[in-house]
Amino acid sequence: MEFTRVEDILKGKVSGSVSVRGWLHHKRTMGGVHFFLVRDGTGIIQTTWKKENVGEEVMEKVEKLPVESVIMVKGDVKEDKRAPGGYEIVVKSYDVISKAEEDYPIARKYHGPDFLLDHRHLYIRNEKMWAMLKVRAKMLEAAREWFKENGFTEFHAPIFTAAACEGGSTLFPVKYFGKTVYLTQSWQLYGEAAIASVGKAYTIAPSFRAEKSRTRRHLTEYWHLEVEEPFCDLKGTMKTQEELITHICHTLAEEVPDLLKMFGREPEYLLSIKPPFPKITYDEAIQLLKKDGVDIKWGDDLTWVTEKRLTMKFKVPFFVTHYPKSAKAFYHKPDPKRPEVVLCADMLAPDGYGEIIGGGERISDVETLIKRIKEEGLKVEDYKWYIDLRRWGTVPHAGFGLGVERFIMWVLKLDHIRDAIAFPRTINRVYP
Ligand code: 4AD
Ligand code: MG
Repeated sequence: MEFTRVEDILKGKVSGSVSVRGWLHHKRTMGGVHFFLVRDGTGIIQTTWKKENVGEEVMEKVEKLPVESVIMVKGDVKEDKRAPGGYEIVVKSYDVISKAEEDYPIARKYHGPDFLLDHRHLYIRNEKMWAMLKVRAKMLEAAREWFKENGFTEFHAPIFTAAACEGGSTLFPVKYFGKTVYLTQSWQLYGEAAIASVGKAYTIAPSFRAEKSRTRRHLTEYWHLEVEEPFCDLKGTMKTQEELITHICHTLAEEVPDLLKMFGREPEYLLSIKPPFPKITYDEAIQLLKKDGVDIKWGDDLTWVTEKRLTMKFKVPFFVTHYPKSAKAFYHKPDPKRPEVVLCADMLAPDGYGEIIGGGERISDVETLIKRIKEEGLKVEDYKWYIDLRRWGTVPHAGFGLGVERFIMWVLKLDHIRDAIAFPRTINRVYP
């Protein structure tokens, strides 16, 4: 049997008689008529049940059907401004595919955040969670589309690693047959190996950070979109980032405007984003913050709080470049004109959201790299293979990492990063 997708009905693509199957999302009865919302994964539609169409017996039976039961309904599509989404199905017949138990834990009433996180496996059926998951999938679809159009190859790196990419303090150790290995913090070092094989490369994969900070923007497991390009410098990677972010923003505005509006994000705003993005140096950022009376000195890394202050001054994503060497990981290329800073760029989202991308140009010669590894107190042996990349066919290269949840948080104006992922992993949550 053919079933119609709710999305197609709501887009006005289907008329006449249809069969739809899905979950009984919400029940309401008014004036002897049942208005039951049905959810099929593509959308939510009102089904309208009247005695004259289905008979008294069916009216009584379905009234008792618990929410989240799975049903099949057959009926006629009708345009109706009063229905959510503007369309309804006037039911002629139905079938119960699976009857749910009574007392659905997430009934429509107020629940605290912990209760909802404990019932996340059910809460992802909520309209806003559904919308976020669709936007997130669309974001990654748009990214892959852009990579394909621009000649990038998807490349996969291991999750188990032997050494740190972003510094030892946030490594997750794992027992590995009598040895200790670590969950990856970043694909980058492998991405740098990839470019000499496949050229411009990217990945979309989980990264892990044993973040002790309990902030609204840190997960211990997050999805990381990373890019590495050969024959590329700091300027080049910023251009790639601007174009990629612009393509994603425009695709979301064009293809899922209604989902964005559910979160108070105007599609027009995303359409207004285009290259070049504003760029300031770390030095300028410090000056701006000092002028604001923030207690900060040159050399300090931007914290969540100081970064937030800075982002309030911008209306669109912007870059902060040339951070002090001491604030960044060992692989960043020192600026030849000013070796105390590195050729890096963070992309910050406006309105308090802060860093969504970290990246820059990498050290491409053997001596500088070994010197930096030693200066940071890391073991040269641990990075032997990574150093080798500079011995055979080294070229200037650059790349970046975008936090998928950080991006979604900004696009959908979310207060907490956990609402940008289905099953968040934080310092005190690994269930469900
Ligand atoms: O700035 P980070 O640490 O940079 C890197 O890992 C580079 N190796 C990436 C590269 O050049 N290939 O992390 C990159 C991005 C951040 O800008 C942020 O968006 C996100 O990853 N991120 C997190 N997202 C959620 N929870 C966390 N704990 C995160 N830590 C970083
Ligand atoms: Mg960073």
